[in-house]
Amino acid sequence: MTTVNATIASSRLLLVGGGTVRQIAEVLGKFGLARPLVVSDPIMVSTGLIQRALEPLAEEGIAAKVFSDTVSDPTDTVIEAGVAIFRKEQYDCLIGFGGGSPIDTAKAMAILAAGGGKMRDYKAPIAADKGAVPVIAIPTTAGTGSECTRFTVITDTERDEKMLIHGLGALPLAAIVDYELTYTVPPRTTADTGVDSLTHALEAFVSRRANPFSDALALSAMALIGRHIRTAYAEPRNALAREGMMIGATQAGLAFSNSSVALVHGMSRPIGAHFHVPHGLSNAMLLPAITRYSVSGAEARYAEAARRVGFAAPGDADAVAAARLVTGLEALNKELAVPTPADYGIKEADWNGKMALMAEQALASGSPGNNPRVPDAAEIVALYREVWTGAPANV
Ligand SMILES: NC(=O)c1ccc[n+]([C@@H]2O[C@H](COP(=O)([O-])OP(=O)(O)OC[C@H]3O[C@@H](n4cnc5c(N)ncnc54)[C@H](O)[C@@H]3O)[C@@H](O)[C@H]2O)c1
Ligand SMILES: [Fe+2]
Repeated sequence: MTTVNATIASSRLLLVGGGTVRQIAEVLGKFGLARPLVVSDPIMVSTGLIQRALEPLAEEGIAAKVFSDTVSDPTDTVIEAGVAIFRKEQYDCLIGFGGGSPIDTAKAMAILAAGGGKMRDYKAPIAADKGAVPVIAIPTTAGTGSECTRFTVITDTERDEKMLIHGLGALPLAAIVDYELTYTVPPRTTADTGVDSLTHALEAFVSRRANPFSDALALSAMALIGRHIRTAYAEPRNALAREGMMIGATQAGLAFSNSSVALVHGMSRPIGAHFHVPHGLSNAMLLPAITRYSVSGAEARYAEAARRVGFAAPGDADAVAAARLVTGLEALNKELAVPTPADYGIKEADWNGKMALMAEQALASGSPGNNPRVPDAAEIVALYREVWTGAPANV
C-alpha cells in the first residue's frame, strides 16, 4: 500500500435529483447572488428547455438575461464576446445551462472576466486557480461532468487547438444535477455523452493520479453507466436509466477532476479540434484501441473496471477480464452505432496528414503522461493509424 497524496476539490453545493432545477433561485439566494447572466446555446432557447431555469428565477423576481451564442466545442472568440457582455452590466454570477459546451463557456468566461488577458494565457500547465466569477452549473447532458470539474476546454481559433484549462477557478460554486433535463437529448448525443462519462470514470481509475477518493467515485460511476447506457440510448424517456446516467456522469466528473484523464482524452481533443467530431464520439472512436494498448500497464485495474461495467464476471481472472473490457467496448460501440472516422466523413489523406501534429498536441496537453502505459509520439501516431484502419497496431 503506497502512501496517499491527493488534493481533493469539489463545488460548495451539489443539488441532485429530478426537478431540482426549480430550486435555482434558492441556490442563488444562499450565496447572496441576484443578478445572473445565463450562458446557454441556441438549441436550449429554441426548444424552450431554458425556461426550466428562467421561470423559477422570474417567479422570485429575477429577470435573467441570456447569452446564447455559445458553440459546440467553445472557442476563445465566443468567450471574449461573452465577457464583453458580462462587463456591460452589473452581473454578479454566471449560470451555465446546457451540455458541456455552455458550461465550459461559462467557466472560461468566469476565469477571463476575473483575470483579464487572453484565454491562451490560462492554458495548461498554468493553473487557473485565482478567484473567478461565481458559476452555477446546470447540465442538460449526462455528460461531461463539467458541472463539478476543475477543467474547461476551449479552442484556440488561431491555432486550431483544444486547450485544456485547469484550476480551482474553473470549479463551479454550485451545480444543479436534474436528470429530467436530459429526456430530450437525442440518441446520438445520449450515446456520445454517455461514452464520454464512461471514459472519464475509466481514465480516472487507471490514471497514475488515482487515489481512494477518485476510485470510489469512478467505480460507482462505471457500474451505473454500464447498467444504464444502452437503455438511455434506446428509451429516451426511461427515468431510471436517465437518472442512473446523470448520477454516473457527475460521479465520473468528480472522479477525474480529482484524479485525471489520460491517453484517450489526450488523443481525443486534437481530433475534435481538427475534424470537428463531437467530444464523446472521438472518445468512443479511440476507446477500444487505446484500452487494448494500455491494459499491460495496469491489468488488475482494467480487469476491475470490466467487472464493474458488466463486461466480465466477478470470478474472471484479471487477464480474462481485462481482455473482455476491450471486446466489450468494441461491442458497445457497435450497439451505440459509433461511426469510424471514415464513416464520419473524414478523408484518409487528411487524417494521415494530421497524425504527427495531433500526436504532438496530445503529448503537450500532459494527459498521456497520466496513462498507465505512456506512449511516445511515434506510438501515438501508430494508434491514430489503428483507429483509422481498425486493425490492431503493433505497438
Ligand atoms: N470541463 C470538463 O471537465 C469537460 C469534460 C468533458 C468534456 N468537456 C467539453 O464539453 C463539450 C461537450 O459537451 P457535451 O458533450 O455535453 O455537448 P454539447 O454541450 O456541445 O451539446 C451537444 C448537443 O446537444 C444539445 N443538447 C444538450 N442538452 C440537450 C437536451 N437536454 N435536449 C436536447 N438537446 C440537448 C446541444 O444543444 C448540442 O447541440 C466539449 O467542448 C468538451 O471538450 C468538458
Ligand atoms: Fe471528456
